[in-house]
Amino acid sequence: MRLEALFNYPLKGCRANPIQVAELDSLGIRGDRRFMAVNHRGQFVNGKTFPKLVLVNCQVEDEQSVIFSAPNMPELKVDLTGDDGRVDVRVWRSDVNAKSLGEKANSWISDFLGGDFRLCFYDQNSHRQVNSLPEYPVSFSDSAPVLVASRQSLEALNAYTGRVDKIEQFRPNIVIDADSAFAEETWQRIRIGDVELLAVKACARCPVINTDVEFAQPDPNQEPLRSLTKLHRRVSDGKVIFGQYFVVTRPGQVARGDKIEVLQSMQAQEYQPLPDEEQGKYTITFEPMTQSAIAAVNDTILEVAENAGIALSSSCRGGSCGACRVKLISGDVEVGADYALTEQQIEQGYILACSCFARSDVVISLED
Ligand code: FES
Repeated sequence: MRLEALFNYPLKGCRANPIQVAELDSLGIRGDRRFMAVNHRGQFVNGKTFPKLVLVNCQVEDEQSVIFSAPNMPELKVDLTGDDGRVDVRVWRSDVNAKSLGEKANSWISDFLGGDFRLCFYDQNSHRQVNSLPEYPVSFSDSAPVLVASRQSLEALNAYTGRVDKIEQFRPNIVIDADSAFAEETWQRIRIGDVELLAVKACARCPVINTDVEFAQPDPNQEPLRSLTKLHRRVSDGKVIFGQYFVVTRPGQVARGDKIEVLQSMQAQEYQPLPDEEQGKYTITFEPMTQSAIAAVNDTILEVAENAGIALSSSCRGGSCGACRVKLISGDVEVGADYALTEQQIEQGYILACSCFARSDVVISLED
């Protein structure tokens, strides 16, 4: 098995930078996911909320400065050694104190995304830990510093869908020419070149993978996520997975063509195909009007409401603004994101309709 491709994504959600040789330290590939866009409340935004982030090109120069470019935008160069203050930001459930990139950078990203946003930098004074392995740091990556996927996993998915989705849609750092599809989920510890990696968890997928990386267009049929759900679905918590997250236990250099050694294997998690479409359909009843609609497995509660002509407010459609908050009265839902809710709201039964899926017949109250 060989290392086939390497990518970094200096700005969370930005275009993939292909690289030939990479230095890995405890934060993963040097420069990867060190920058992040946040809204006015410090909540991160990503490609799920703003698909056009994938059109942003981000290049770090000698760790002294960073250059952002994007269609119809002037190039922006930011000096990383300047003092633009600090900002408290939130990525998923982690609070991070990051370096601000300053007003010029904030205006640039606000103009590009259309709204009130800021750009921040995970510098040497920032701290965030991998949830399940707190002795390991992680910057603005979703779960852990290094995401590994095999070309064979993508080929298996493409063979199933008959589409030609690209590996960059799945945002891996390391792509491996492996022995078989989904083999990466059985690797507990691996060595590549000088570097050793320890598995943390499989990568749970969201609609980001449905966005075409050239034009930033989300697929109207929600592919390939919809098909991945049928092909390869994790049983224990209902998440759809693709690729494996790792921490770096031995830093060093890796290069395209390096041999992959599996130092320790593990049992892949158990999978089972989804029930057929009919079995996977549930009834959602919206109160107080007692109007019901049918939800397929992969439909968010917001989509079900909209398809049924029920007015429900929404804005980001990615779990970060809280506009689509509704109350779950009965039934089971799978929660994709709830980080716009307070602990108290979660305890009270509030959910975000844009990020929840029915997993039984459910009753939803639209009254706040
Ligand atoms: S629309 Fe923003 S959280 Fe659902």
